[in-house]
Amino acid sequence: MSQIKTIGVLTSGGDAPGMNAAIRAVVRTGIHHGLKVMGIRKGYNGLISGDIFEMNLRSVSDILHRGGTILHTARSKEFATEAGMQKAVTISRIFGIDGVIVIGGDGSFRGARDLSNLGVPTVGIPGTIDNDIACSEYTIGFDTALNTVKDAIDKIRDTATSHERCSVIEVMGAQAGYIALHVGIANGAEAIIVPEKKFDFHHDVIKPIIEGKNRGKRHDIIIVAEGVGGAVELAGKIQQETGIEARATILGHIQRGGSPTVMDRVIASQMGAKAVQLLKDGIGNRVVAMKDYKIVDYDIIEGLNMTKTIDDEMVELAKILSL
Ligand code: F6P
Repeated sequence: MSQIKTIGVLTSGGDAPGMNAAIRAVVRTGIHHGLKVMGIRKGYNGLISGDIFEMNLRSVSDILHRGGTILHTARSKEFATEAGMQKAVTISRIFGIDGVIVIGGDGSFRGARDLSNLGVPTVGIPGTIDNDIACSEYTIGFDTALNTVKDAIDKIRDTATSHERCSVIEVMGAQAGYIALHVGIANGAEAIIVPEKKFDFHHDVIKPIIEGKNRGKRHDIIIVAEGVGGAVELAGKIQQETGIEARATILGHIQRGGSPTVMDRVIASQMGAKAVQLLKDGIGNRVVAMKDYKIVDYDIIEGLNMTKTIDDEMVELAKILSL
């Protein structure tokens, strides 16, 4: 690979708190290493349209504590086409971009792999609140989202307790139940329903509610991941079967915003620095990841082929703790 002098950075897919911390780390460590850093707006769309600008040390002042992404983001349909990808390669050449850092989820990583295959070295940084990137134990934004959801459920619990109701809360995670499982434990849910595990309405929801009531419980928290969905219908069925008043809350995009936690700021900073180091050393076609709490990197195809499952021990623990 020829020497990399100019790098581009973009954020793609759903935004996640901590993306700004990663952008800041890319810009500042890049400049520290003598590289020119170009910001690419609106994900891969900006790489196709040339919405690109040079960043300096001050371009990333005052963003560390801010949610969202100053580079904006998109799920680019055009980049998924052969013509779109070719345009992105041409634009990279025109702007003198020798390597690109992509901060996003696994859809964004697939884009990074395609760009690499077309001769533009890329490094992916895992950024999504869902924590569903197989090759990494952690994705930027997960901890902040968990804390946002935890706060919201604490508030819902107050009113559920006062009215002796059952609260059904739908959290994000179209294909993944990591948010549901973690807040299920953190907020003491009676039942946690995730897309990765089959569930039986009577055995997994009604039974714990009835048994809990018989043991003196006065309210219930049921967490359902977006990928399973149907919180409103679920609340209706619970009320019908148990006679306990039930209400549904769909938390939605509130989970994606807000100031990143310390954990997200620190990990995003480390991952941003690692991505720059790789490109500076002439190493592309990689993804940055966390393994055993350390920042590591994998070949992008190897990373995309990895699988990750929901932790059965945590699922069991959640059930025991809700007795
Ligand atoms: O990937 C992050 C995520 O928030 C998912 O949990 C959710 O399914 C999806 O993005 C929602 O996307 P949008 O912002 O397009 O509604």
